[in-house]
Amino acid sequence: MHTNVWYVDGNVDSEKSYPQIVEAAECLKQNEVVAFPTETVYGLGGNALSEEAVAKIFQAKGRPADNPLIVHVASRPHVEKLVTSIPKQADDLMNAFWPGPLTIVLPGGQSVARNVTAGLDTVAIRMPNHPVALAILKAANLPLAAPSANLSGKPSPTSADHVIHDLSGRIAGIVDGGSTGVGLESTVVDCSGDVVTILRPGGVTKEQLEEVVGEVAVDAALSDEGQKPKSPGVKYKHYAPTAPVTLVDGSEKYLQTIVDKRRAEGMKIGILATEESKSFYQADIIIPCGSRDDLISVANRLYDVLRQFDESDVDEIYSEIFTHEGVGVAVMNRLSKAANNRVINE
Ligand code: TXA
Ligand code: MG
Repeated sequence: MHTNVWYVDGNVDSEKSYPQIVEAAECLKQNEVVAFPTETVYGLGGNALSEEAVAKIFQAKGRPADNPLIVHVASRPHVEKLVTSIPKQADDLMNAFWPGPLTIVLPGGQSVARNVTAGLDTVAIRMPNHPVALAILKAANLPLAAPSANLSGKPSPTSADHVIHDLSGRIAGIVDGGSTGVGLESTVVDCSGDVVTILRPGGVTKEQLEEVVGEVAVDAALSDEGQKPKSPGVKYKHYAPTAPVTLVDGSEKYLQTIVDKRRAEGMKIGILATEESKSFYQADIIIPCGSRDDLISVANRLYDVLRQFDESDVDEIYSEIFTHEGVGVAVMNRLSKAANNRVINE
């Protein structure tokens, strides 16, 4: 399949960008799948009302069919058509964080294609905060199901190049609108029960949610591997580069000792470091992932750094860890998955 690339900038109404947006939207209306930027990561969009379009998303990504998709909308009336009710807490969260990196699981979903929700009686909805995503949604005038636009199991794409690398030839087109902002996927919260529950940590932190709706629960499966997660996608190994990743909970000196030992055994080793620590280490490749003083910069860089290791020929990757605070919770959630939960403690 030929994959079209449409180039646009944030000025979506311009003579340059608008015709490109309209073409991409036409493609979506014909039930083809198209990747586009959001403020979190690139999404692979398809008409959420069409089983045929949604099937193409699963096929292009190689995604397991039991992992439901997020439906993206540009306006509140679209939400009302897709759910059976909007609990008060969900309404408050929409007012506080939309458009933005928060996905809300609501009761309903009977009006989207069956394969969007993977048979659940809830539907996950988000209004993205990106001019290009919003312009495409408006031009198509459809709710769009859109998972991250990567091959299943690979790090989510934060640039159009990442999407092209994974999906070129497998999808109808890509809207290239430059790099994304947050760099990690949205926070997913379940608002279908009594207590708002975080199913996947992301750009909006627990503390920020609690300012709006009071106490928020965290799905037990996020901290206990024995539990069945309420968000089916969370159970899959994810975000992983090809070489195995190990997290090192200890000093820089300790991490270096491990690396020295493996290199002496003939292994090529990569280190995921920070701007502060990168010059301390010796290894075959050392990639800084933002600044330890600014966890938002770490979130921003993480997927690109994991993909850069795939471009190198290292056998193993060792990574520093980050604090479990604020957006650090989401960073550590993704890093732990990339590492398949392998941690060495000093
Ligand atoms: O930032 C994001 O959320 C990106 C951009 C493109 O919007 N999208 C994204 O989609 O990360 P995806 O498919 O990679 O992740 C969707 C997550 C999965 O963990 C899935 O299991 C969960 O949302 N999910 C979807 N529908 C659900 C539902 N009805 N109940 C519980 N979890 C659900
Ligand atoms: Mg994903």
